[in-house]
Amino acid sequence: MKQSSLRRRLVVAFAVAILIPAIAAGLAGVLMIRQHVYRQAQSKVNSDLESAVEIYQNYLQRLEDSIRIHATRMIIYDAARTGDTTRLGPELQRVQKAEGLDVLTLIDLRGEVLYRTNNPLVTGNQAQDKVIQQVLAKKAPVAGTDIASMEDLRLESDELARQAFMEITPTPYASPTGKTVASQGMVLKAAAPVFTPDNQMVGVLWGAILLNRNNEVVDKIRKTLFKEELYKGSEIGAATIFQDDVRISTNVMDKAGRRALGTRVSAKVADQVLRRGQTFRDRAFVVTDWYISAYSPIQDVNGAIIGMLYVGILERPYADRLWRSVFVFLGIIVLAVLLVGVIDLTISYRISRPVRAMAEAMQRLAKGEYPPKIEVRSNDEIGYLAENFNKMSDELAAAHRLLVHSAENLERKVEERTTELKDMQDHLIQTEKLAALGKLAAGVAHEINNPLTGILTNSSLMLEDCAEDDPTRPDLQTIVDETLRCRKIVKGLLDFARQTPPQKQLISLNQVVEDVLGLLRNQVGFREIGVTIQLDPTPSSVMADHDQMRQVILNIVLNAAEAMNGKGELTISSSIERQNRVIRLAIHDNGPGIPDEVKSRIFEPFFTTKSTGTGLGLSIAYGIVERHGGEISIASAKGQGTTVSVDLPLHSVLSHA
Ligand SMILES: Nc1ncnc2c1ncn2[C@@H]1O[C@H](COP(=O)(O)OP(=O)(O)O)[C@@H](O)[C@H]1O
Ligand SMILES: [Mg+2]
Repeated sequence: MKQSSLRRRLVVAFAVAILIPAIAAGLAGVLMIRQHVYRQAQSKVNSDLESAVEIYQNYLQRLEDSIRIHATRMIIYDAARTGDTTRLGPELQRVQKAEGLDVLTLIDLRGEVLYRTNNPLVTGNQAQDKVIQQVLAKKAPVAGTDIASMEDLRLESDELARQAFMEITPTPYASPTGKTVASQGMVLKAAAPVFTPDNQMVGVLWGAILLNRNNEVVDKIRKTLFKEELYKGSEIGAATIFQDDVRISTNVMDKAGRRALGTRVSAKVADQVLRRGQTFRDRAFVVTDWYISAYSPIQDVNGAIIGMLYVGILERPYADRLWRSVFVFLGIIVLAVLLVGVIDLTISYRISRPVRAMAEAMQRLAKGEYPPKIEVRSNDEIGYLAENFNKMSDELAAAHRLLVHSAENLERKVEERTTELKDMQDHLIQTEKLAALGKLAAGVAHEINNPLTGILTNSSLMLEDCAEDDPTRPDLQTIVDETLRCRKIVKGLLDFARQTPPQKQLISLNQVVEDVLGLLRNQVGFREIGVTIQLDPTPSSVMADHDQMRQVILNIVLNAAEAMNGKGELTISSSIERQNRVIRLAIHDNGPGIPDEVKSRIFEPFFTTKSTGTGLGLSIAYGIVERHGGEISIASAKGQGTTVSVDLPLHSVLSHA
């Protein structure tokens, strides 16, 4: 298992979920902002173009008005009627200058030039002129844009022809052309019929303004529409008049900062506006910069397309504004993505951390370790899971501990039982051995008893018959004494082998102790022994043979005295152990103690470490206590003194309470 797989998947899922909409929203937003900004700019340019056309038309109208008014003057119609232009000349020249006209000419109804203000000496026929033809036909003033040929201009003046002449500059994006010079001029032209007061039409007065290199109109347009506003040093707006596709009047500047006269429009615009007669509205690259542009066709009086009027605003301010908006917008999106990213990481960490911790803990549990608790911070499903996991692992741990504990317990119990069993077995062996020895001894004693009686009787009689000074007398005496000793041993053997059944009755063990001590106290071997008695004062009784109990206590106390060599401390205590329903008699001496090898044989008949011992004292005590359903035991170690304990079943206890 990859450690971080869950977390990574969560992160990736979140990232995809946020990044795709964010990118989509970003793209859509940028496109929408762009569209909005450009549409706004374009609609401004469109309305600017309308205004520019208006201004252009205004110039034409003014020209027409001025020609119409002058055509009504007497000096004009007199000259036209009479053909006498002597007085007319100076007046027309004054009018031309005052009205700012490049051409002012009076012709008669046949088109013959009566007076050409620029060049009075040159006459000619102008009947073929489209504007003049319309005036003659309509008998009303007509104004429009027109093309003037170089010859026509040269007839007026060389200066006008020079003004119109223009070298064509190669321009990127323009359609290929063979032309290198503009060989025509474009003019605003107005003509009005000349009437006599009796309403007779006698001639036509017409005037024109050459647009080539004349920037009045375009500058007026720019001033009116853009107030000559600057953006980072550049004019924000520009206007241009095209003759065909060549800039003949413009305030678009070239790189050198001159008016970009003689440059050409792009092929795309030329095609749409000049060939198809449609308005062009779009961004366009104009000489040095991108402009949001609008081009409108300029037609002559017959409706033929002869040029274009252009208005454009610099794209850069809009582009800058667009970028600012886009930056702000994208900034917001990036911030949102970052925020969601942080939340995403936090959430996925919160989810994956406890899950991972649980997985690790699970592995450790499987290995039998106790894993640390998983921290629960959230109170959602994950938190709930972790909490339950903790509970589960606690329970597992507890169960495991219990198991280990039980196993240990079991082991210990088995050990205990084993030693118990072994003790019991030892005890049993000892008991069996003692019983067998007892039987043997009883048989031997029985066999010996009769011959002994014979020996004793005869030797006693012989002793009685023997004279006081008979040298055999001491020997006889020895025989009698030793035989008596043998009888004593035999009797002991018979006692040990329960040849005499106990005469049981209710007695107080404390009382028996007092009796025995009363007997012994003044004996020779006891004079230098300090005796302490601590008897349980609770009145109690046991069912026992009084004489046999006395014998048991006597044998034990005598052993103690012998062990201490007649000098030491003897303590006799009794205590009632209610829960076991026994009374325990403990006889302690501070003698030399019993080494282990002696202790294991101490209850055997005839086992003694003393030169004059019979080895029967403890074996007799053992037999008696056994027959009373009690137990006798020895606690001792070398150099520690000895305690012999006798436990007898209680018959009754009189409680103090
Ligand atoms: N209180 C005691 N202190 C030390 N040794 C003892 C004590 N009681 C008994 N013994 C040992 O147990 C042996 C057996 O005792 P017992 O059966 O009375 O025979 P005997 O006293 O005739 O030797 C003794 O020889 C002695 O070695
Ligand atoms: Mg003894």
